[in-house]
Amino acid sequence: MTDKANESHTATAATGLRGVVVGASTVSDVVGDKGELIYQGYNIHELAKSSTFEEVAFLLWNKCLPRRSELDELKRAIGEAYAVPKPIIDLLRQIPREADPIDVLRTAVSALEFYDPEARNISREVSLKASIKLTAQFPTLVAAADRIRRGLDPVEPLPDENIATNFLYMLKGEKPSEYDAHVFDVCLVLHADHELNASTFTARVVAGTLANIYASVTAAIGALSGPLHGGANTNVMKTLLEIGDIKNLESFIKQALAAKRKIMGFGHAVYRTEDPRATHLRQFSKEMGERAGDTKWYEMSRKLEEVMMREKGLYPNVDFFSASTYYVMGIPLDLYTPIFAISRITGWTAHILEQYADNKLIRPRAEYVGPRNLRYFAIDKR
Ligand code: COA
Repeated sequence: MTDKANESHTATAATGLRGVVVGASTVSDVVGDKGELIYQGYNIHELAKSSTFEEVAFLLWNKCLPRRSELDELKRAIGEAYAVPKPIIDLLRQIPREADPIDVLRTAVSALEFYDPEARNISREVSLKASIKLTAQFPTLVAAADRIRRGLDPVEPLPDENIATNFLYMLKGEKPSEYDAHVFDVCLVLHADHELNASTFTARVVAGTLANIYASVTAAIGALSGPLHGGANTNVMKTLLEIGDIKNLESFIKQALAAKRKIMGFGHAVYRTEDPRATHLRQFSKEMGERAGDTKWYEMSRKLEEVMMREKGLYPNVDFFSASTYYVMGIPLDLYTPIFAISRITGWTAHILEQYADNKLIRPRAEYVGPRNLRYFAIDKR
């Protein structure tokens, strides 16, 4: 045994890669101290106000906003791709009903590869086609899986409707109101990309090995499913339901914080001001509540926001107000994370296309903090 054998080291490397720039990208930028989010040069506030999800998808993939004819062409391609292969619907029927919908989505997306004869071709042309197809089919898969677990048949997609309307229609079996469809469309715009968040980084790491788009996206869904990432929105609503009434809120939160419990929907790895997406979602949560004649969840959310600012100085993130917005829209809690994926598939694929276009295998180093030169003893001598 040498002197160094049991020496322990303290890591000096950046924990969780905070603040480490690992590559260049034009897809989006998060300016944490200003609370700014930009997609391919356009500010999120302007896109949320004036754009549609399909326009944003085109922008993320092509680095420019579409002309009318280009947008029509994209919408036609999406409409044509809505329906998923029948064996995938059969697969969804085999999955246990209690499975978490985000895991069902991950499994179905992985299996989609088997029905794409060009799955191994990672040229930009073929990968862009796959990006459009995946964007079209995520809503179909999520809606179909939800109906199947409820003992219902999937609803056929409507090729002429946009992704937001079509998803809500396939989920509920009836067309949404114009207002709900609009709110949902803007929610998709707001969640479409967010620089190198955990799932996007995962997608790029996998694409960086030149694995195909299905493998990259499947891995990204796995990363998204965790409670510290895309799983937070479901947990926000669970917390609000657990609190139950605004009069219990303050004592509940204080107790939870004293027990070092994290309150979902607050804090962010990059933003040090308000998450610009939360600004729009707060307004939707309010309006949805007012239209439904029940602002309970909005009011509880506002109070929770006030308590978290006072107690911890933390702002709400994208997941916070999306929870009460989707709840009032009548969407089951465990679909909030798959809905995040229905939007984020556009960002993931934009990053995968960018990765393929100028690829370098992503292979960082770890700072080794374990012992060295330990003496090896045969098994019956230990
Ligand atoms: N509730 C309570 N305390 C929180 C908190 C939360 N949501 N988020 C951060 N904190 C506290 C931590 O406990 C820690 O306190 P300490 O220094 O006393 O130990 C401090 O703030 C820093 O937290 P940390 O987790 O290290 O910050 P981060 O920048 O690495 O984390 C998140 C960012 C998003 C992972 C974190 O804020 C979080 O877990 N939020 C809840 C999950 C969530 O909403 N995720 C969706 C993100 S879009």
